[in-house]
Amino acid sequence: MIKFALSLSRKRNLNNIHMKSRILIIGACGQIGTELTTALRSRFGADKVVASDIREGDEGMMNAGHFEILDATDYAAVEDVIFRYKVDTVYLMAAMLSAIAERFPAKAWDLNMNSLFHVLNLAKDGKIKKVFWPSSIAVFGKTTPNENTPQMTVMEPSTVYGISKQTGERWCEYYYNKYGVDVRSIRYPGLISYTTEPGGGTTDYAVDIYHRALKHGHYRCFLKEGTTLPMMYMDDAIRATIGIMDVDLEDIKIRSSYNLAGVSYAPEEVTMSIQKHLPDFSITYEPDFRQEIADTWPKSIDDSQARKDWGWAHKFDLDAITKIMIENLRPRYT
Ligand code: SER
Repeated sequence: MIKFALSLSRKRNLNNIHMKSRILIIGACGQIGTELTTALRSRFGADKVVASDIREGDEGMMNAGHFEILDATDYAAVEDVIFRYKVDTVYLMAAMLSAIAERFPAKAWDLNMNSLFHVLNLAKDGKIKKVFWPSSIAVFGKTTPNENTPQMTVMEPSTVYGISKQTGERWCEYYYNKYGVDVRSIRYPGLISYTTEPGGGTTDYAVDIYHRALKHGHYRCFLKEGTTLPMMYMDDAIRATIGIMDVDLEDIKIRSSYNLAGVSYAPEEVTMSIQKHLPDFSITYEPDFRQEIADTWPKSIDDSQARKDWGWAHKFDLDAITKIMIENLRPRYT
């Protein structure tokens, strides 16, 4: 009887969903969230998108559409925003990244896992229809083959962040298999962008280096020479994020998370690319604890499954990224 009543209420919720059509971005002021919000607002119209974060964003974020202060770990608050705005799709972008999570393991676990459970449970209960949740190359570890890392392989992450992402992947797949939750995910490589600076990641050197090059002409790198990591320009990442949400349900064959590749490079290669624009730019290497994290991550990623299933293809190579970064950051430092 209880079961019947529950399934009736779930059905009613699902019916309501047809009248709902807004998108909620949780973590809209972060590195990815900022650009994702802009892209979704321009694609669907400002009224269809609700940006939210634990803190206020810049003027562009606050004035261009709906914005809510929202703590991703507060189930009732997330549910309330979903209800008030008639949200049917959630992009859960709030997370604590790899380097900072090593300093606050319990906090990172709480944020990275509980926010995911809240959103998955809201989908399971029929209150939202579709979920995007980001995973990362951090799900891999020292025992993973690190060149052309396959979609399915050994995964023994050794960082707090990696453990949370790998666990999250397992739960996403579980919620899809058990409850039919339409959750889609990508394992992002290091992301390069100029709009918002990243915070607390290991791949962040590859953004910071452009700022320092323009400001000081020199960069002290916290990773050593030869540390090749998979990277991607933000526009590619946003295209992938919206792309995977666009395709038909049946086309998504992987419900944990898809490997995604752009370009792979080491600090000395970015240096050479920057020197094509700023010939006097120099770099020195002072590896810290983040070197240990980077050493456990793949050098390059095999993303053939994403290419096959939903037509993924990256566009930006290292020199194209450097040109865009220098052109857009230069006015800030001159
Ligand atoms: N860019 C992230 C980090 O360095 C990896 O997903 O933490």
